[in-house]
Amino acid sequence: MPFDLDQYLATSQKLDVSDIDWEDVSRHPIAVGEIKALEYMMDIEAHTLCYLRDLLNTDAGRDPEIADFLACWLYEESYHGRAIESFVRAAGVDRSPAICGARRPTWRERLESAGTAVLNSLRRDFHIVHMTWGSIQEITTLNGYLCLANRSRNPVLVQVLRRIIRDESRHFSFYYHKASEGLARSKSTQRLTEFLLRRFWGPVGYGVKAEREIDFMLQYIFGDAEGARHIRHIDQTISRLPGMAWFDLMSRRYQAAMSRAPRARGAWSRPVESALA
Ligand SMILES: [Fe+2]
Ligand SMILES: [Fe+2]
Repeated sequence: MPFDLDQYLATSQKLDVSDIDWEDVSRHPIAVGEIKALEYMMDIEAHTLCYLRDLLNTDAGRDPEIADFLACWLYEESYHGRAIESFVRAAGVDRSPAICGARRPTWRERLESAGTAVLNSLRRDFHIVHMTWGSIQEITTLNGYLCLANRSRNPVLVQVLRRIIRDESRHFSFYYHKASEGLARSKSTQRLTEFLLRRFWGPVGYGVKAEREIDFMLQYIFGDAEGARHIRHIDQTISRLPGMAWFDLMSRRYQAAMSRAPRARGAWSRPVESALA
């Protein structure tokens, strides 16, 4: 998949929401589930800073294309978080995004960082695992926002999400392009990527959010026929990367979440005013 980095760098900018009338938000329906999903994504968009820190602990910064991309990527992602925060606040929920560096790392996270440092010192291609991982997370984010936008009855939310989706689509293209290039170069990189994804990968929010919150996102955002199609699309797209024909992790995690879906899923469609009252 070609990616025009020069054009991306020339056109990258903060998400423009200056024309959005935030007072209009509460004049249209907002579902309880939408707010819950947006609060989750607001934290995840803000977590980009910590993800970037992990990425820079690999050799990724030595690739000038990746170094150029990351600066714009962090900037764009942080404005996604701000736009979502503005929407959530306009809906009457007083909430700021979680600050990713504020929490002390768990023992598991410390062990993973130590393992990452060792692997990185042994393998020059370790950042390709991150590029592949990033491709999966960006395409999932993109498809998740698409599902939310297609279903929402709130035109302000639809407008904000459609603008974010344009950025997410370019983020995905970059990660996919770099993953494809790196995986195509070496069978051993493909094997390393498969081993680490099978052992450590989880959907967007994994390692930051509780499993039940990840379940909620999969059930709420992808829990209908359209959502199931998006899940298959994610697996099919990732499995077209060199050496990734085996990839079905998204469908597996989705099916596990759906098997635990509560019967009262209809409660998430309740208008937010009734929940706030
Ligand atoms: Fe984003
Ligand atoms: Fe993104």
